[in-house]
Amino acid sequence: MRKNTALESSQAVNLSTKFQIRVIWFCMMFFALQASTDGLGYIFGPLERFDPAFSEKYQANLSLVRTHAVFSATALCTGLLAFWQQTWKGHVHALVGRIYGLGVLVGGITGIPMALMAEGGFSSRLAFLLQACLWLITLTLAVSFARRKKFASHRRFMIRNYALTYSAVISRLLLHGLQQMGMGFLDLYPILSWTWVLGLAAGEWWIRFSKSRKTLFGRPGF
Ligand code: HEM
Repeated sequence: MRKNTALESSQAVNLSTKFQIRVIWFCMMFFALQASTDGLGYIFGPLERFDPAFSEKYQANLSLVRTHAVFSATALCTGLLAFWQQTWKGHVHALVGRIYGLGVLVGGITGIPMALMAEGGFSSRLAFLLQACLWLITLTLAVSFARRKKFASHRRFMIRNYALTYSAVISRLLLHGLQQMGMGFLDLYPILSWTWVLGLAAGEWWIRFSKSRKTLFGRPGF
């Protein structure tokens, strides 16, 4: 009797954790789609709409900026799909993963010259440069682990890689939120360019949390 009650309560915890995680996934997807449509609308919209601080360099490097935005936004949206358990069946995961990888590869390579001309001075340029390099390095490691069928390591590096990707959304949300509270763009930008450090820390937490979840409740994932 007592065993049954314990089992029922552990199943209830399992269901409620799964539900919470799915809610988080949908919220993340909502903000990813919003950042992608906003970013693409801005970059492919009328050139006069560019912020004066960015206008000249964006117009001079329009193909670079547009390529970066398209491929990075593709990575942002497909990456979340790859973490959804339903896509782990058959070839869907491999296909979604390849599209994501291409997004990160082109987004990361184009991110390097963009980092070197970023606003916010040395701090922002260094932050974006490191983020772009880590984006490419973690992708390379994740792919190489998958090829060697070391899937636990592949998963860990994909979580780190996607944490870097999603930091672009968090830093934009923070930038808009703090600007609404009256803080200046030029004060915020050099600091918020480092948001990816927090993103990576969140990724490490997720790696640990989902590992203990696997032991307690079965397969990890959304
Ligand atoms: C994760 C690695 C990423 C790096 C290293 C990176 C790097 C950069 C840099 C350096 C700039 C120029 C900023 C400036 O001129 O001051 C930029 C702009 C931009 N990025 Fe990324 N980016 C990344 C991810 C993303 C993602 C995931 C998206 C998807 C929405 C994205 C979309 C854009 C867009 C639309 C712009 C131009 C408009 C703007 O400044 O908001 N990037 N990126």
